[in-house]
Amino acid sequence: MTSKHIEAVVFDLDGVITDTAHYHYLAWKQLADELGIPFDEDFNENLKGVSRVESLTLILANGNQSDAYTDSEIEDLASQKNEYYKQLIQQLTPEDILPGMKELIEEIRSESIPVGLASVSKNAQTVLHALEIEHLFDYCADVAKIKQSKPDPEIFLTVCEALEADPAQSIGVEDAKVGVQSIQGSGMYAVGVGSYLEQADLMVNETTELSWTQIKQAFLHKQ
Ligand code: G6P
Ligand code: MG
Repeated sequence: MTSKHIEAVVFDLDGVITDTAHYHYLAWKQLADELGIPFDEDFNENLKGVSRVESLTLILANGNQSDAYTDSEIEDLASQKNEYYKQLIQQLTPEDILPGMKELIEEIRSESIPVGLASVSKNAQTVLHALEIEHLFDYCADVAKIKQSKPDPEIFLTVCEALEADPAQSIGVEDAKVGVQSIQGSGMYAVGVGSYLEQADLMVNETTELSWTQIKQAFLHKQ
C-alpha cells in the first residue's frame, strides 16, 4: 500500500532561506567589472545553484575569455570573488532570514518531519551560523563529498538518504532552475520560490507566499 505522507523537507539556502543570492550576484559583478566582462542580473540567473568555479567558467565564456587564464589564475579569480562574498556576508544577522522561513521550518519540525539542507555553497555553515538557525536542520549536505553539481540529483538524494527519507515522499524547495531540476531528478516534489521556475510542481513568487498547509495539500493531492 502506498499511503502518501511526507518523510522530509529539504531546503536550498541561498535565495530560499536568506537573500545571499543577491550577495553572490554583487560579488560576481565586482569581479566581472574588473575583468571587463558584461554582467547583469539576467545573466546571473544562469549562476544560481551553480558552484563557484563553474560560475566563473560561465562568466569567462560570456566575456570571450575562456582561454585567457591558466588553471591557477582561475583559482585565484574564484578566491577573489569569494573574498568579496565573505565581506558581504559579514553583515548577516538573524534579521536577514527571508520572511516566514524560520516559522515555516519550525512548523515542519513541530510535525516531527526531518528537515535538511542541500546547498553547494562552501560558505553554507557560516551563513547558517550568522542566521542562528543551524539547530533547525537535521542534516546538511557536505559539499566536499558531492561529486555532481545541480542539476544532477546527487545532492538532494544524499540528503534524503541521510534523513532516511524516501525521495518520492519528500519535498525540496529551491530558487534556481538547476535546483528544481535536481529535486525533480531525485524523484522529490519541487517547490520553486521566485521567477523562471515554471517547471516546479508548485511555484510561488516570494517566501511570504509559502504556507505549510498549502504545500502539504499540494503534495498530498499530486497525481
Ligand atoms: C549556491 C549559490 C551559487 C554559488 C554556489 C557556491 O549554489 O546559489 O550562486 O555559486 O552556492 O557557493 P560558494 O559559497 O561555495 O562560492
Ligand atoms: Mg539558491
